[in-house]
Amino acid sequence: MRIPIIAGNWKMNNTISQSIDLVKNIKKEDIKDKVEVVLAVPFTSLYEVKKHLDGTTIKLAAQNMHWEDKGAYTGEISPLMLKEIGVDYCIIGHSERRQYFNETDETVNKKIKAALKHNIKPIVCVGESLEEREKNIHEDIVKDQVIKALEGIDKSFIKDIVIAYEPIWAIGTGKTASSEDANTMCGLIRKTIGHMYGENAKNTIRIQYGGSVKPENIKELMEKEEIDGALVGGASLIAEDFIRIVNY
Ligand code: PGA
Repeated sequence: MRIPIIAGNWKMNNTISQSIDLVKNIKKEDIKDKVEVVLAVPFTSLYEVKKHLDGTTIKLAAQNMHWEDKGAYTGEISPLMLKEIGVDYCIIGHSERRQYFNETDETVNKKIKAALKHNIKPIVCVGESLEEREKNIHEDIVKDQVIKALEGIDKSFIKDIVIAYEPIWAIGTGKTASSEDANTMCGLIRKTIGHMYGENAKNTIRIQYGGSVKPENIKELMEKEEIDGALVGGASLIAEDFIRIVNY
């Protein structure tokens, strides 16, 4: 049985005080106990948000990290720093990082390995652009991203890895992939994991869909066999919407 996992990705939104307000509002509501809920908040808010999550079942995530423990990397944040705060998950390879900050399959791979080494669970993002979908190469692109992201990573870590399929054309655009398309792509990712790691890993790995997930479309997405959760951007910034998504 794969436990559904719904993560809110706040992106570059919310100061510390705004983060605390949002967490307090999220905490006011009851959350279905069968869903794992994760909040991916800005670096500056992690420490404070963690204090407000203590005593709840909600997990904390960072949105990026460096792969080295420490060193001369001005402006970067290391897994050790995240670990001390008590971060459980880290989003790695979000398309916005790939697009605007030169994140490559190679750096994604290094970051996943570093996260796992420090007991931080990676939420690994993959997904095709509109152009790639129109050229009908989206399946090859996503398969390739998965293979390169996980290169050299042992089977024993599969239970700790979450993959988020996020078609770039659906992120923040209001255009959701149809639940059928999302299911097909998540199925393709699962099959790829099966080829790499075998049947057990294929059935264990959790795969999220992300891209304009809203209270109105979450149920239909979650009913699909291959979709184990969602990575939610915009709608995770409004407590009421996020809770409706979590309690789909
Ligand atoms: P969105 O973002 O829900 O605002 O489309 C999703 C994501 O980028 O993780």
